[in-house]
Amino acid sequence: MASTERPSKLSRRAMLGGLAAAAPATGGSALARGPGNPANQPPNVPDWSKYLGEGVAVRAYGKPSQHEAHVVRRDVEWLTASKESSVSFTPLHELDGMITPNGLCFERHHAGIAEIDPADYRLILHGLVDKPLIFTLDDLKRFPRVNRAYFCECAANSGMEWRGAQLNGCQYTHGMVHCVMYTGVPLRLLLAEAGLKPNAKWLLLEGGDAAAMTRSLPLEKALDDTLVAYRMNGEMLRPENGYPARIVIPGWEANMWIKWLRRIEVGDEPWHHREETSKYTDLLENGKARRFTFVMDAKSVITNPSPQAPLNHRRGFTVLSGLAWSGRGKVARVDVSLDGGRNWQTAQLDGPVWDKALTRFYHEFDWDGRELLLQSRAMDATGYVQPTKAELRKHRGVNSIYHNNGIQTWHVKTSGEVENVEVG
Ligand code: CO
Repeated sequence: MASTERPSKLSRRAMLGGLAAAAPATGGSALARGPGNPANQPPNVPDWSKYLGEGVAVRAYGKPSQHEAHVVRRDVEWLTASKESSVSFTPLHELDGMITPNGLCFERHHAGIAEIDPADYRLILHGLVDKPLIFTLDDLKRFPRVNRAYFCECAANSGMEWRGAQLNGCQYTHGMVHCVMYTGVPLRLLLAEAGLKPNAKWLLLEGGDAAAMTRSLPLEKALDDTLVAYRMNGEMLRPENGYPARIVIPGWEANMWIKWLRRIEVGDEPWHHREETSKYTDLLENGKARRFTFVMDAKSVITNPSPQAPLNHRRGFTVLSGLAWSGRGKVARVDVSLDGGRNWQTAQLDGPVWDKALTRFYHEFDWDGRELLLQSRAMDATGYVQPTKAELRKHRGVNSIYHNNGIQTWHVKTSGEVENVEVG
């Protein structure tokens, strides 16, 4: 394998040759054994080829393989006082493509998961409307609907990293984001059904959980791409994601995506409730706070390798992988650096590149076994470039929790282990 050759042009033979050649370095023979039970490996006939397996419908609602049991949402015990008002994180390092499996979408609850009987579900629409309405779930399903994949990111994603590198794993530093295909009713259709008064300018969205979560939403966004969604990736919403119906506000902070949606009130000004005053505001160095910072700016993270997904092959060809997204539209480009931001190369975007959706990127490289400082930098269709953490702190100080979209650095050691670090 000529080292100057682009890996993507490697023939299958050269690739396999490269893998076989790598085997001695890991201590194996030319027929590299690798992990596991030799009795189930060539030239032996494995167990699973000797017996009948379970029949159809035994697994009436399928689950991942038992060998993938480590691929789960995780929380950080010390982060919050109770599990009912807490967060679990998506294992981004275990996933690929741009869609998040429903069972792995991060959760953020303020009073635990509301368990709603769909027969009793009602959505109230009132306030500055001609005709107040109450919808059943079946009513919502009779409206014209759309299917859209959007990312959903908590404004506090990466919030623990404001003052320096802290959590060791992209699951924890960046795992408050997911992306699913929603099916739902454009909110403008429900508003049109009720008829808006001329002075209507803001909506109050209220959840049906015990926290009665509320956020104010400007009418323009409600009339634009906001949805009342009831399906994710084809199936009904999971209870932890707002069953049977939630608000989807593409590109905007997830705290506004009210789950278990119970009530929409139309008004002429924002309500200034807790989640838009003492929380979800950004305290600057001068003591003033940014408010109504709805949009999630362009951001990216390398998911593999990362602290929970080390480089185990020591050296040779590998594919670096990551996710990029922007609340302002499509991802236009992602650059990758292997040396802490000195040199950049353009990564390859793969799979759909959709408006306000997670976008997968890859970068192929031949690891020479030396230390690496991995970074990725997203650019969106508006020309916005993801800032360094230093740039971000220059403008916003270090008092913030929310809206940290700074460039992440992973330190790959010669052992292949990976650590969360910052570079000056
Ligand atoms: Co905000």
